Amino acid sequence: MIDVTTYPVQTTSHSRLAECDFNTLQFGKTFADHMFVADYKDRQWQQPRIVPYGNLSLSPALSSLHYGQALFEGLKAYKNEAGEILVFRPEANARRLNASAERLCMPPLPEEMFLNGLAQLLSIDRDWIPTQPGYSLYIRPVMFATDDYIGVKPSDTYSFIIFCSPVGAYYSKPVRVKVETHYTRAAPGGMGFAKAAGNYAAAMYPSQLAQEQGYDQLLWTDGREHKYFEESGTMNVIFVINGKVVTPPTTDSILKGVTRDSVLQLARDWGYAVEERPVSVEEVIAAAKNGTLEEAFGAGTAATIAPIAVISHEGVDYTLPPVENRKLSNRLRQTMDNIKTGKAADPHGWIFKV
Ligand code: COI
Repeated sequence: MIDVTTYPVQTTSHSRLAECDFNTLQFGKTFADHMFVADYKDRQWQQPRIVPYGNLSLSPALSSLHYGQALFEGLKAYKNEAGEILVFRPEANARRLNASAERLCMPPLPEEMFLNGLAQLLSIDRDWIPTQPGYSLYIRPVMFATDDYIGVKPSDTYSFIIFCSPVGAYYSKPVRVKVETHYTRAAPGGMGFAKAAGNYAAAMYPSQLAQEQGYDQLLWTDGREHKYFEESGTMNVIFVINGKVVTPPTTDSILKGVTRDSVLQLARDWGYAVEERPVSVEEVIAAAKNGTLEEAFGAGTAATIAPIAVISHEGVDYTLPPVENRKLSNRLRQTMDNIKTGKAADPHGWIFKV
């Protein structure tokens, strides 16, 4: 029987906390002292443990390196004024992890193991949680196939690891995005909805081409006709057109973002008309031209609420209204920051207190 409430801990003999400069954090480059590790073999998860963060020893035949049976999650922890640890919607990440795992033929991870392991890890590494405004502890759960076998089949063994990284904003300024109408991130029937490592690999080459042209990200369009918006790779995309909040529905080629879901809920709470429906490139570009595109922003855990400054389509850059005039996205960022840090009420029960 696995003990899901308190896992064995091997504490680090040398904390790196004193060497970490919390004022110069770059996203994803600094890692907290410990990690939670669980291995799957003999058709079950073995006793999980917490150990010092460190390198793994892997076989070159490791199946996930070859065939991409690998997935991840992203969520964040904060502290309230009393110093208590608050995690934003971890149950949603635990559920999405299992939806991704099913699509990739990987074993489901018991939600209580995810939540209890995370809670224990965060209480051990609590001093790694930044408290400056706009900063947080980014939590990265990752699961990957570990069979030493290069035949193509689902692995019989897996590792699940949670490690943490103190971070600031993923995008430090409003983003310039390019509408992608040639390459495809994910196709109907594919695995675009899953947080699969391969989805990010597929996006890198086209994103790199856009970066060489001076854009930060792509706005992906559907793989059949390239007429409808999908998502933006590191975030979902949301538009405000003529006072209405408009966003593509989460199909099987779009990630079901936890931040996206929270944004739509708050917008509905505030009386906005929210439309989850196919959003054509034509509609958004027409709105940009006639002045009814009031706001466009990305929504993601790492990206938070990332205002879009410029949308490029067929070689033309459309500049959106100044960020300071954007009522919805500014209110969302402020309200969500306040909920996450315990400064505002949490009417939807999004906060998990450790
Ligand atoms: C997240 O927002 O947690 C993500 O996974 C995006 C990431 C690729 C930086």
